[in-house]
Amino acid sequence: MRRVVLTVNGTPHELELEPRELLVYVLRDRLRLTGTNVGCDTSSCGSCTVLLGGESVKSCTVLGVQADGAEITTIEGLAEDGELHPVQQAFHDHHALQCGYCTPGMVMASVSLIANGEAKDEDSIRRGLEGNLCRCTGYHNIVEAVAAAAGKA
Ligand code: FES
Ligand code: FES
Repeated sequence: MRRVVLTVNGTPHELELEPRELLVYVLRDRLRLTGTNVGCDTSSCGSCTVLLGGESVKSCTVLGVQADGAEITTIEGLAEDGELHPVQQAFHDHHALQCGYCTPGMVMASVSLIANGEAKDEDSIRRGLEGNLCRCTGYHNIVEAVAAAAGKA
């Protein structure tokens, strides 16, 4: 076991982790932050996307011990004072979800895309979200929502 400190949504957590534990299961099973979903076992769906040090990562590809000392943001950490984050609001306004399973990962990936100035137009948004799969929406409304949140609509 190894002692680590993960700061998640602004709150530090001291944890004893096995070196093999994946970050996504640390978030879900130990911290009960179940908004971060697991949609595959092949690192391909993106439903587990969180921000690690401000950059989006698939949390099923990161070991919990690798995140020692890092700042992590999950979907639960986006809204402030009861107000949805602008990307969450845009997904709501543009009906950019159906079953919602991919949505936390899509939103987190979009937040990072916009913060990095990579949501310039439809093509760059589609490219930027290539690692996030949605089985319901056909992506059209997701792209519109991200463009709106980025001020490109
Ligand atoms: S659970 Fe599918 S990419 Fe992480
Ligand atoms: S809304 Fe169902 S998988 Fe995307």
